Amino acid sequence: MPIDKAVIPVAGLGTRLLPTTKAVPKEMLPAGRLPIIHHVVEELIAAGIRRILFVSSRSKVAIENHFDDYSQLLMALELDGRDAREVVRFDYRQRGIEFFFTRQQVPLGGTKPLGTGDAVAAAESFVGDSDFVVAFGDSIIHGGEEPSLLQRMVASHDHHDAACTIGAWNVSPDQVSNYGILVPREQEAAEADCRLQDVIEKPAAGVTSSRLAISARYVFRAEIFAQIRAVAPAQNGEIYLTDAIRRLIENGREVRAVRVGEGEQRYDIGNHRAYFRTFVDFALEDPEWGPDLMDYLRERIKAEDVDSP
Ligand code: UTP
Repeated sequence: MPIDKAVIPVAGLGTRLLPTTKAVPKEMLPAGRLPIIHHVVEELIAAGIRRILFVSSRSKVAIENHFDDYSQLLMALELDGRDAREVVRFDYRQRGIEFFFTRQQVPLGGTKPLGTGDAVAAAESFVGDSDFVVAFGDSIIHGGEEPSLLQRMVASHDHHDAACTIGAWNVSPDQVSNYGILVPREQEAAEADCRLQDVIEKPAAGVTSSRLAISARYVFRAEIFAQIRAVAPAQNGEIYLTDAIRRLIENGREVRAVRVGEGEQRYDIGNHRAYFRTFVDFALEDPEWGPDLMDYLRERIKAEDVDSP
């Protein structure tokens, strides 16, 4: 059966983007003229996904509203005699896409949800026995040629009958301790699609020579849920998805990585620096206003050069 279900965890607090994210979910911040989560959903649809579950929270209702149907808006535009093409393009109901919503609970007496493993666990009854995709709602994989990273991941997952297939990209050595790091089997280390021997959450310097980081995209078999249930919470109380994946490897299951390819760019909107850069890149690609923004940036840079001694 082709994989047509995806889960997007969006229940995190987004504290690194405060105060921007006090009332606006970080996944709703625009990258160009579309919210980040909208880019993620389009990426999933292009890879064959038709049913999408958001694992959300009470502060993220704007996401649910964004994916509500467009019929009322369309009617209002048509009554005003305005061009509705831009909106019709995103009418998901007409495109046969279904959205589902559930909430990740904050434990009684707690102040925050219990991490990405706990968020994925909330998708168990939606997923049933199917293989499924997980895409974090704050990361975009953009550009490059078809097949996309996710399309290559799904194809590899099927071909190898893997338990889990992870999107991966190379980070610089000083960044290794900020990411979940994937350790390929030695004989496959240079390959674009490789089997893994370990996965380590935010390793300290010297723990591994691998620089291959998890890139917010996964394909799982439903067996991941049993592994999540068996994971002990980390020191901060969170249940890491990485620890559940590590258990798959320890149990001899096939876990693979597929690398981000040439021309593909990974945008992770976790902090302001990364967010600003993401916005500028997508705005510059806008067919209508991108060239104008480029002219504006050139003027600004010229003015800076004149002003600086
Ligand atoms: P992050 O690791 O960036 O965490 O989550 P965060 O809570 O959103 O942000 P900070 O660290 O406080 O700044 C990656 C993705 O996983 C979701 C987030 O919404 C984000 O899209 N997530 C994270 C959950 O759904 N539940 C969680 O418990 C944690």
